[in-house]
Amino acid sequence: MKEKIKNIKEEALNNINKVNELKSLDDIRVKYLGKKGELTLILRGMGALSKEERPVIGSLVNEVRDEVENLISKKEKELKRNILEENIKKESIDVTEPSKKESIGSIHPITKVIDEVKEIFIGMGYKIEDGPEIETAHYNFDQLNTPLIHPSRDLQDTIYITDDILLRSQTSPVQARVMERQKPPIKIICPGAVYRADSVDATHSPVFHQIEGLAIDKNITMANLKATLEAFTKMYLGENIKIRFRPHHFPFTEPSAEADVSCFVCGGKGCRVCKQEGWIEIVGCGMVHPNVLRNCGIDPKEYSGFAFGFGVERIAMAKYGIEDLRLLYENDIRFLKQF
Ligand code: DAH
Repeated sequence: MKEKIKNIKEEALNNINKVNELKSLDDIRVKYLGKKGELTLILRGMGALSKEERPVIGSLVNEVRDEVENLISKKEKELKRNILEENIKKESIDVTEPSKKESIGSIHPITKVIDEVKEIFIGMGYKIEDGPEIETAHYNFDQLNTPLIHPSRDLQDTIYITDDILLRSQTSPVQARVMERQKPPIKIICPGAVYRADSVDATHSPVFHQIEGLAIDKNITMANLKATLEAFTKMYLGENIKIRFRPHHFPFTEPSAEADVSCFVCGGKGCRVCKQEGWIEIVGCGMVHPNVLRNCGIDPKEYSGFAFGFGVERIAMAKYGIEDLRLLYENDIRFLKQF
């Protein structure tokens, strides 16, 4: 029996010395000292020994128990200290190391164009208005004198939510909303997102931005419209930029026009940005149709006005020489950092 206890002791001490994980150390504790542990079992079996043997074996087992227990708790402390030291090493911070540079974002080119255009029109006495992006067909089309058969109403062009509710396809409905609630004189611009059922390519996106403008007062004429847009163009794009008006059709203006500016990348000679034309179309405009004024409670005999709608991406692309619209939406930091 003594031999057996001696063997258990040697094996246990050996195992404890070799161990290098807390989990395995616990297994050793269970193996020798647990309820069914080897030393525990010997103590439990003491009844079978002779009277003389009992105290000798009993004290021997208890001695070994104490020794094993002590060694285990020493080892446990050692392992815990190692873990702590390793963690401290891993998590240490070198306070002398130079800090990472904080990177600060820049204004997105679309926001930049909107802000700059706003600034110029505010300088000309315009107020900024806003309107819903989820709009009714009533404001997006009916109030703007758009015939029921007009192609822009088509499902292929406009994104509908229900038969009457849609994602606005233009910022023009804001004109109608403003005219309904304000008395002339009115001078407003409204920047914002618009939506069309277009698939993405270098010049199309299902969401893009427009800036709507509206001026209503007594004796407003086409000359005021031309002068306003010319003044804006020169202020925004430069003194030597030319602007030309071409006749066009919009249901909500009569007469209607589109205006092009001379290409500010090549100066009108023709380049990739203006597609060799020397001109870039940036705005639709015209004199507000009498039906639109009437629909919104303004008497066309007393008041007249002009309206215009810029394409923001168009201006941004032309101003910064961007050839692919998708760059404006991909949020590649290397591209955006340039503005
Ligand atoms: N809403 C037009 C479009 O999306 C742009 C436009 C043209 C707006 C003429 C106007 C305007 O206010 O008078 O193509």
